[in-house]
Amino acid sequence: MRIVVTIDGPAGAGKSTVAKSLANELGWRYLDTGALYRAVALIAGERGVTSDDAHGLGALTAALQITQDPQGRTFVADRDVSADIRSETVSDGASRISAHPPVRAALVEVQRSVAQAGHLVCEGRDMGTVIFPEAQLKVFLVADARTRAMRRAKDLDAQGEPCDLEELVAKIEERDRRDTSRATSPLEKHNDMVEVDTSDLSIEQVLERLQQLVAEQVER
Ligand code: DC
Repeated sequence: MRIVVTIDGPAGAGKSTVAKSLANELGWRYLDTGALYRAVALIAGERGVTSDDAHGLGALTAALQITQDPQGRTFVADRDVSADIRSETVSDGASRISAHPPVRAALVEVQRSVAQAGHLVCEGRDMGTVIFPEAQLKVFLVADARTRAMRRAKDLDAQGEPCDLEELVAKIEERDRRDTSRATSPLEKHNDMVEVDTSDLSIEQVLERLQQLVAEQVER
């Protein structure tokens, strides 16, 4: 039986880092669904499709060949967009374009087809609620907005992108508001999810907690 572990939560809660490490530890496939929305936002920006054009964005998403390899690198056709999708402009664009149902519908198949490949750890906003409601373990990662902004500032610094911490806190809060209040597949914690607050935990501690949850709750 295929096993799926879902990790949902807001931007900067640590989903990507721990989901990737957990998948690695378990020897399972990893799927970063935020990267798929980011790839659409990147290409839409390059082609001049605006973030309020639901129809145009839906058509664009359906026409793009977006894939992710087992290491979590994201491709549009044969172009590796893994680095280009990490800018602040793309973060903001991804949160905007992901509110449109045609964009979400076009990406559902990409996400489910990856799951055919075997046991999976996936992360996003609607993994446990919409895409893999049957998952054996559903985690909801949270952290306070300031901690998340500080983590983001560190990432941007490493990429050579200067940033202002207060501005980042405001942007993160704005993305939270957008991701949780949209009509289609909003970010929400359901009763069958285990919440893990990462504010005061190191990556290693979060990983340890998730490994413990897998050992307790996943039949292998
Ligand atoms: O996890 P992330 O920061 O890379 O995600 C970027 C944006 O994509 C996020 O603000 C909302 C959207 N997203 C989504 O709507 N559903 C998902 N499953 C994953 C991401």
